[in-house]
Amino acid sequence: MSLTNFSGAGVSSTGVPLPKVTLPALAEMKRQGKPISALAAYDYATSRLVDEVGIDLVLVGDSLAMVVLGHDNTLAVTVDEMLHHTRAVRRAVRHALLVADMPFGSYHGPVAEGVANAVRFVKEAGAEAVKIEGPRVELVRALTNAEIPVVGHLGLTPQSLHRMGGYRVQARTAETVQRLRADAHALAEARACLLVLEGVPREVAAVITAELEIPTIGIGAGPDCDGQILVFHDLVNLTFAPPAKFVRRYGDAAELMRTAAEHYREDIEHHLFPSDEESYHLPQAEHVALGPEPEAAPKLHTLRRA
Ligand code: KIV
Repeated sequence: MSLTNFSGAGVSSTGVPLPKVTLPALAEMKRQGKPISALAAYDYATSRLVDEVGIDLVLVGDSLAMVVLGHDNTLAVTVDEMLHHTRAVRRAVRHALLVADMPFGSYHGPVAEGVANAVRFVKEAGAEAVKIEGPRVELVRALTNAEIPVVGHLGLTPQSLHRMGGYRVQARTAETVQRLRADAHALAEARACLLVLEGVPREVAAVITAELEIPTIGIGAGPDCDGQILVFHDLVNLTFAPPAKFVRRYGDAAELMRTAAEHYREDIEHHLFPSDEESYHLPQAEHVALGPEPEAAPKLHTLRRA
């Protein structure tokens, strides 16, 4: 598959065809009141699983800085690192809409620079839309005019960590609620295609969702948004930190992976891996090449963990 002419449709893990999710399809889901499912994923294996279960939108989030690269916050991740991961996810995702996060610093300067960086995500990595944080109306307009769909992101915007003084719920006063509402309308008027609302009171997200024609996708924004997004690693306990209030754990991959690695190590220590069946064999006729058999070679490695 070429990265630049992607037009595939997906297939579920059981072989059922999954139609390609497009931006008009997501807009239609809002009109019909059908909830949109979204996850942030960062590599081939996890995004393939996510795509095969029929998730509507996969975001290569800049949270990969923390979740995958081990940084303390999202600020350090670079355009090249985001492109590298977006390409890997592109190879896996056939059904979902693929959105790439523009990292901190890649769209904060001149609008033309933001557009040039966004073009790279579409051209070099196969993203179908880019996400940018904050009410950057002029940039949204320029990107849309350049045929690059934009997902807005308002409320708790992690790239504003230092300005916010921490990851705090936003829009909790009448004044900040009105500002958020105005920003949401401004992004929609600039033709953003979707709006992520993060870390805002449920009541505020509900009002904005009802007022906007474009779908809202919530994270820590209550159940009244048009869709929900979480980080896949949070869902399966792979983030090594106590989960935020809005995270629901659906599985424990850490336990599964730790146990597998532990059993593997123990099997090696106890000569239980690999077994004879897991080994290649020299054809009987060629045994002569080995010379005389060593005396009473112990028959190890034939047992398996029960
Ligand atoms: O990077 C990220 O994980 C996000 C969230 C909205 C899922 O931007």
